[in-house]
Amino acid sequence: MFIVIDGIDGSGKWTQLKRVTEQLQSLWKTVLILDFPRYWEKSAFMVEKYLNGEYGKEVNPKQASIFYAIDRFQAYVDVQSDFKNYDYIISNRYVSANTIHQAGKISDKNERKEFIEWLEDLEYNIFWIPKPDKTIFLNVSPQMSQKLVLKKEEREYLKWWKKMDLHEEDVDHLKNAHASAMEVVESHSDWVKIDCEEAGEMRNIEDITEMIMEEII
Ligand SMILES: Nc1ncnc2c1ncn2[C@@H]1O[C@H](COP(=O)(O)OP(=O)(O)OP(=O)(O)O)[C@@H](O)[C@H]1O
Ligand SMILES: [Mg+2]
Repeated sequence: MFIVIDGIDGSGKWTQLKRVTEQLQSLWKTVLILDFPRYWEKSAFMVEKYLNGEYGKEVNPKQASIFYAIDRFQAYVDVQSDFKNYDYIISNRYVSANTIHQAGKISDKNERKEFIEWLEDLEYNIFWIPKPDKTIFLNVSPQMSQKLVLKKEEREYLKWWKKMDLHEEDVDHLKNAHASAMEVVESHSDWVKIDCEEAGEMRNIEDITEMIMEEII
């Protein structure tokens, strides 16, 4: 089973991926973890430059999506032969990340829909990477997302003086990304929304893991 965990920034993707992996392993399931983008790999060269703002803010959604798609293609080539040896493959972000972040930049609803169709054709047909069985969308509000990101330590791929990257520093981006994701959850039957907040507070990490496990076991 090929599972993707995605969500806007700081939504708990990595926290949950680790916990879900541990729980699956305790049930004697074998798990292969993928993590995108693969910073420091040659195939993510342009992704790093893009996130550091080296191409400016005018990079359009299709351009940016191609940078990320190339990294996923290379990752698949690298692990392809291993795929069948595992019970679960769990990916931290995947095509869904472009669906969330890049589609969110497009304000017209029809154009957004057309972009998502273009993106899925690019990734699954042109680059022929596999489609996930399920995409778990960790639903947190844009406001909560910003709080959680600030809690995090500085990340290595950013220049030392940047605490938040090109996407995270922009609250409008988070709002648009979240809104776009809500539409995709509605239109894609393989996406599952996990509500991670209750009355303005994050739910317990343990409770969220349990909700995810119910979807994948
Ligand atoms: N349910 C939760 N309640 C409170 N804090 C949480 C919860 N889940 C995650 N966190 C905290 O929020 C921060 C972000 O979590 P994490 O790094 O797992 O998110 P992420 O989605 O992988 O982030 P990024 O988008 O930056 O990669 C961390 O400090 C983590 O400890
Ligand atoms: Mg993360």
